[in-house]
Amino acid sequence: MPVLVPGGHVFIATNPLVSYLVYEPFIQAGFEKRGEIIRVVYTLRGGDRPKNAHEEFPDITVMPKSCWEPWGLFRKPCEGRVQDNLRKWRTGGLRRISAEEPFKDLIYSLPGRGLEKELAPHPSLKPQHFLRQIVRAAVPFGHGVILDPFMGSGSTIAAATALSLRSIGLEIDRDYFQLAKKAIPALAEYVPSENGVNGTKR
Ligand SMILES: C[S@@+](CC[C@H](N)C(=O)[O-])C[C@H]1O[C@@H](n2cnc3c(N)ncnc32)[C@H](O)[C@@H]1O
Repeated sequence: MPVLVPGGHVFIATNPLVSYLVYEPFIQAGFEKRGEIIRVVYTLRGGDRPKNAHEEFPDITVMPKSCWEPWGLFRKPCEGRVQDNLRKWRTGGLRRISAEEPFKDLIYSLPGRGLEKELAPHPSLKPQHFLRQIVRAAVPFGHGVILDPFMGSGSTIAAATALSLRSIGLEIDRDYFQLAKKAIPALAEYVPSENGVNGTKR
């Protein structure tokens, strides 16, 4: 909260099971919840069958197989009206896809795999196809600094670099930090295909 200017946005990747626990402290801290981005992604992870009893109960699912990932969207309260905030701080809104097309809260995605995973072998790698859409929306006039306090392989930092934005990434794990230093320039050069499948290196 202290490092954000008024109207600055925060995106938080979470999952359907715990998202309410993640969101509550943000609201308590004074952020406004501005919605949720639904990343439609089928990860093929297990966990939906009764543990150690799946043969006994073959027709049972213990919770719905998740096919989406919620990204909580929060905003530091604006100073005055949105238009005043946009003029003064260059924040308060999200960047549209184009003048005709809004930024939407449903984004079709894929797990980070293939060439991207080779460039950045982190267990929870997020794909450039998705992250560049988020990063672009987060700074409505293309000004400002992208901060990722849990950067993993540095994929968000790479997305910011690809969009010529300044960024800061923090990572507690030394090995992942070293991985990020190598992966960021490589991922920034990565060119995702239109639908996010099988991108190429520039
Ligand atoms: C879900 S991963 C991020 C993955 C990243 N989005 C990517 O695409 O590679 C979260 C990362 O946060 C790191 N982390 C956890 N606690 C942290 C802390 N207190 N400060 C900095 N990094 C932390 C973990 O080591 C892990 O690499």
